[in-house]
Amino acid sequence: MNDSSYAQEMDSRDTIVCRNKFNIPLNQSVHAKKSLWGGPDKECVYFCGNSLGLMPKSTRSAVDVELDAWASYGVNAHFEHVREPWVSIDRPVGPEMAKIVGAQDDEVAVMNTLTGNLHAALSTFYKPDVSTGRTKIMYEDKAFPSDNYAFMSQCELHGLDPAIHTIKVSPKPGTYTLTTEQILEAIDSNQHELALVCFSGIQFYTGQLFDIETITAFAHERNILVGWDLAHAAGNVELKLHDWRVDFAVWCTYKYLNSGPGGIAGLFVHSKHVSRPRQAGWWGNNPRTRFDMLEMFDPIPGAEGFRMSNPSVLNMVCVRASLEIFKTAGGMSAIVQKSKKITGYLYDLLLNLPHYKAKELMDGGYPCFEIITPESRGTQLSLLFHPLNSTTMQQVMKHLNDNGIIADERKPNVIRLAPTPLYNTYSECLYVAEMIESALNKVQLE
Ligand SMILES: Cc1ncc(COP(=O)(O)O)c(C=O)c1O
Repeated sequence: MNDSSYAQEMDSRDTIVCRNKFNIPLNQSVHAKKSLWGGPDKECVYFCGNSLGLMPKSTRSAVDVELDAWASYGVNAHFEHVREPWVSIDRPVGPEMAKIVGAQDDEVAVMNTLTGNLHAALSTFYKPDVSTGRTKIMYEDKAFPSDNYAFMSQCELHGLDPAIHTIKVSPKPGTYTLTTEQILEAIDSNQHELALVCFSGIQFYTGQLFDIETITAFAHERNILVGWDLAHAAGNVELKLHDWRVDFAVWCTYKYLNSGPGGIAGLFVHSKHVSRPRQAGWWGNNPRTRFDMLEMFDPIPGAEGFRMSNPSVLNMVCVRASLEIFKTAGGMSAIVQKSKKITGYLYDLLLNLPHYKAKELMDGGYPCFEIITPESRGTQLSLLFHPLNSTTMQQVMKHLNDNGIIADERKPNVIRLAPTPLYNTYSECLYVAEMIESALNKVQLE
């Protein structure tokens, strides 16, 4: 398993042949000093698709088409275009995005940005009722800060004290992740006070994939609405939002969906909720009367009726370019099959390293690491470096960077590695594992 011929054999049998559809940064442009992986002109090892996905090669021409349309037609490109008029540029994207999250075509809107969509969804679905005592939002402790701020500020917008009206569920002392039972127990014991449960699908720090179906069903049995932040789940794991009867979900597209920094985001609203009041805007209005500038809002049935503004055309074609790759790769189930294999391979390699959780190293206060990502996960593995009060993680990260590996660090002690199935290889996993081991051999404790 840990020799290069095995990794090469796995690469040669890889059925997801998409790597050549992406621009992969070169060692020289990521300032790799002395990569053993190859010289300055060789592609670096990019294990950071959980943070910012790589740029599809088709993106540039997709953007150029729109820039040309703007240059050639000006405002007329809204209706006159060589490809898709701007006025309906998002229409073919919604159904493709729906496939990614397991939704019906009319349950997904491609719009805004993630935190913007979270606020929009909360204004529809967070309805604290002081008279019944159902006022609280439950989510995981150490959720991504933007979610935390969104939940707290939504409480304040309703005149409620967030310290009282939010409930954060924490892992048991000495553990890093939550069990499904813990979450269900927390919902059960707070059921009469909960207005909403809103966890992330995959926890950004630990990489834990929550049991979306079970948690959603359990909360529904107690008449509690359930939403999900799928930033780290969309394009990474198989989702069945419609079948799981999730009330709403939001996600960004610049991670596993490769739409570029700050790309346009996604909103899912289950078909059972289409008539709920929302923050309305003209792009959610019936397109046949939109330009009649009528006074009364006539929403498009489904999630598209939640759109507000005319979308960024440039952002829309970026996400469209990436979704076309998802389609040619065989869709989410084919991609997830590889994801499980390649992450499983990296996991096994790491587990077999001498510095993996060795008791004598842990007990003696020497550099080593453990993996805090549980079996329920997507492609990301979170490595926690010991000793905790040292600079071990930072030294390892520098060694990885010097050797042409792009991963990301989450302070204080975690490095996240995401072998992304669309463009990463088994040989890269082997190299990354070797570099983790050689880094730990070199770490100097102060
Ligand atoms: C889990 C999660 N939620 C929310 C956000 C915030 O996203 P945005 O800045 O696109 O609103 C991020 C960003 O990485 C994230 O990872």
